[in-house]
Amino acid sequence: MTVDLAERVRAAVAAVTDPELRRPLGELDMVRDIDVHGTTAAVGIALTIVGCPAADRIERDVRDAAASVAGIDAVDVRVGVMSPDERKALTEKLRGGRAKREMPFGPDSLTRVIAVTSGKGGVGKSTLTANLAVALAARGLRVGLVDADVHGFSIPGLLGLIDADGLPPAPTRIDDLILPPVAYGVKVISIGMFLRRPGADAAGAVAWRGPMLHRTVQQFLTDVFFGDLDVLLLDMPPGTGDVAISVGQLLPHADVLVVTTPQAAASEVAVRSGTVARQTGQRVIGVVENMSAMTLPDGTALDLFGSGGGEAVARALSTEGDDVPLLASVPLSPALRGGGDEGRPVVLTSPDDPASRAIDAAAAVLARNPRGLAGRALRVTPSV
Ligand SMILES: Nc1ncnc2c1ncn2[C@@H]1O[C@H](COP(=O)(O)OP(=O)(O)O)[C@@H](O)[C@H]1O
Ligand SMILES: [Mg+2]
Repeated sequence: MTVDLAERVRAAVAAVTDPELRRPLGELDMVRDIDVHGTTAAVGIALTIVGCPAADRIERDVRDAAASVAGIDAVDVRVGVMSPDERKALTEKLRGGRAKREMPFGPDSLTRVIAVTSGKGGVGKSTLTANLAVALAARGLRVGLVDADVHGFSIPGLLGLIDADGLPPAPTRIDDLILPPVAYGVKVISIGMFLRRPGADAAGAVAWRGPMLHRTVQQFLTDVFFGDLDVLLLDMPPGTGDVAISVGQLLPHADVLVVTTPQAAASEVAVRSGTVARQTGQRVIGVVENMSAMTLPDGTALDLFGSGGGEAVARALSTEGDDVPLLASVPLSPALRGGGDEGRPVVLTSPDDPASRAIDAAAAVLARNPRGLAGRALRVTPSV
């Protein structure tokens, strides 16, 4: 009778999800001894590391799960820590047999990789990437977001990943496996999370050159445990610099989304960023125009940055047999801007805002299109 009860407690505890690894504790071999005496359950669990930031939450969830079993009135949770060997077994299991340092987003991966790029900065690329990621997650997709704008990282702030000390949270590490913090269902990694030094300011300037940038992006792709993803978005730095070329080499099968404003001058450089991506073998899957005309309360249109840039870029990037669509025109939106400043994405807080609707329409198209090889250009070495 008590054995049976203990088994039921074990099953309940084993089903609790680790908030960071996003797998059931049973699967992670974190459930230890379970003893039931009368109506009291003693539950042993082993965390991956000492001071695991999710410890309180796991302990609470385990307590609740055990207490929910009929016949249990009191729960005593004993929290231990895995031994180095146990941790090694766990990280190997999480890697799914993949060798260390092997990039999980290669051509055979089922994850669709979408690099969001622009010709110049300030066109709203990061704001759109953050909102697109959240919109895709809200549609039920498993979404990862790599902030590849190492010098100008802004994704943590846009997604509210800022601790009480004003800095992005440091990711939990299990040995050499880095767990990406999760915001609004999106697994996020950014250089901003690695710049926590005592006395460092939140801006934490990064003054690295090519090779370091390449290594950073490579590490984000290999050492960060994203688990199985449907979509991995990359917020690229503006232009066609070192990171763009590195990403082109690391992810030649990636899809590319080009962001531009309606302004002619912005659209010319936007075309170039798409062309360079294509030279590495990546496929341009669409253009998003941002900061398009907004409709004022009296019904007039305010087109601060003119019009037509998105259409022009889509046309210029379209080639015979490979039509590049304009996926959305996102209007100027105080709510979009404000949501970014507050770290609360507008697609969630004001889904009816015209900007949210436009972004979600683009997300709907991206969620629908499976990843494919059609129209992919042959890989050549970029000449820029
Ligand atoms: N559609 C929009 N309406 C109003 N403000 C916007 C819009 N898109 C972006 N912004 C604002 O423009 C600035 C630049 O956006 P950001 O996403 O950082 O650009 P990028 O990543 O291209 O440099 C931010 O202050 C952002 O809030
Ligand atoms: Mg940016």
